[in-house]
Amino acid sequence: MKKTVTICFANNKGGSGKSTTCSNIGYSLAQKGKKVLLIDGDMQLNLSLSFFDEDTVLEIAQSNKNLYYAIKEQRSLSDYIIPTPYENLDIIPSSTLMSGIEYELFTKWQRELILKKCLEDVKLEGKYDYILIDAPPTLGGWAMNLLCASDFLLIPVEASPWGLFGLANMFEFYSTVTQISPDLEVLGIAVTKVNERKNYFKQTMAALKEMDFYVFDSYIRVDSTIEWAQDAGKPVAAFKKSSRASEEYELMAKEMHKQAQKRIK
Ligand SMILES: Nc1ncnc2c1ncn2[C@@H]1O[C@H](COP(=O)(O)OP(=O)(O)OP(=O)(O)O)[C@@H](O)[C@H]1O
Ligand SMILES: [Mg+2]
Repeated sequence: MKKTVTICFANNKGGSGKSTTCSNIGYSLAQKGKKVLLIDGDMQLNLSLSFFDEDTVLEIAQSNKNLYYAIKEQRSLSDYIIPTPYENLDIIPSSTLMSGIEYELFTKWQRELILKKCLEDVKLEGKYDYILIDAPPTLGGWAMNLLCASDFLLIPVEASPWGLFGLANMFEFYSTVTQISPDLEVLGIAVTKVNERKNYFKQTMAALKEMDFYVFDSYIRVDSTIEWAQDAGKPVAAFKKSSRASEEYELMAKEMHKQAQKRIK
C-alpha cells in the first residue's frame, strides 16, 4: 500500500495564491500519473470553481454531498469524493455553509482532529499519492483541523509589499499546531504573483531566505492566463498548455514532489 502524502496550502494572508497553487499543482501531478485528491476547505469555493462551472459548484454546495456535511456529521470522507473532468484527479467540494464550521466544531469532542478522523478511511485505502488541501485565509479551529490532518504545510506567499506581513502569525500558528500534531512540517514557502522587474520581488526573496524554512526555487510570475483559466473553470495547463504559468506550475509541482518524497516519514 502506498503512503498518501497530505499537504495543506495555507496562509492567513488573503489572496496569496493558495487556491491557484493548490489547483494547478494538483492538476500537474495528476497529469504526470499521480493519483490526487483535492479538498476544498474554504467557503469561497475557489478550489471547486477551478474545475467546474459556477452552476455545478453551487448545486453541490447546496446539496449534502460536500465537506461541510461530512464534517458536521463526522462521516468518512470516502463517500464525498467526486471526480473532476481530469484523469487521476478527484475532489471533495466545499459549501458556503463552511462559514459556520467554527460553530459546528465548538461543542465536539477532540474538535481539532475531526477532519483527520474523517480522512482515515481514504488514507487507509491508499488510493491516492497526494491529498492537497486548500485552506481559507483564517487561523482558527478549522484551519487547525486542516493542518492536523496534514503531513506538510505549504505556504504560498505573494511577492508584494504586504505579502510578508502577517507571516509571523502563520509561523506562530504552525508552532501551536505542532503541540497537537508534532509531525507536521513546513514543506516550504512558494512565491507567487511575481513581477521580476519590481524591486520588492528581490526584497521578498531575500527576506524569505533569512527564515528557517525551505523556499521553493521555482516561483510563479504574474500571468493573466491564470485569471482567464479560472474564469473558464479550468486549471491553467488545461486552458492553455503553452502558457508561461502552465510551465511554471509544472516546475513547482516537480519541486514539491521531490521535496515531499525526500522528507516524508
Ligand atoms: N500568477 C498569477 N498571475 C495573475 N493572477 C494571479 C496569479 N496567481 C493568483 N492570481 C489571482 O490572484 C487572486 C488571488 O489568488 P488565489 O485565489 O489563488 O489566492 P488565495 O490565497 O487562495 O486567496 P484567499 O485567501 O481569498 O483564499 C485570484 O484572483 C487569482 O486569479
Ligand atoms: Mg483561496
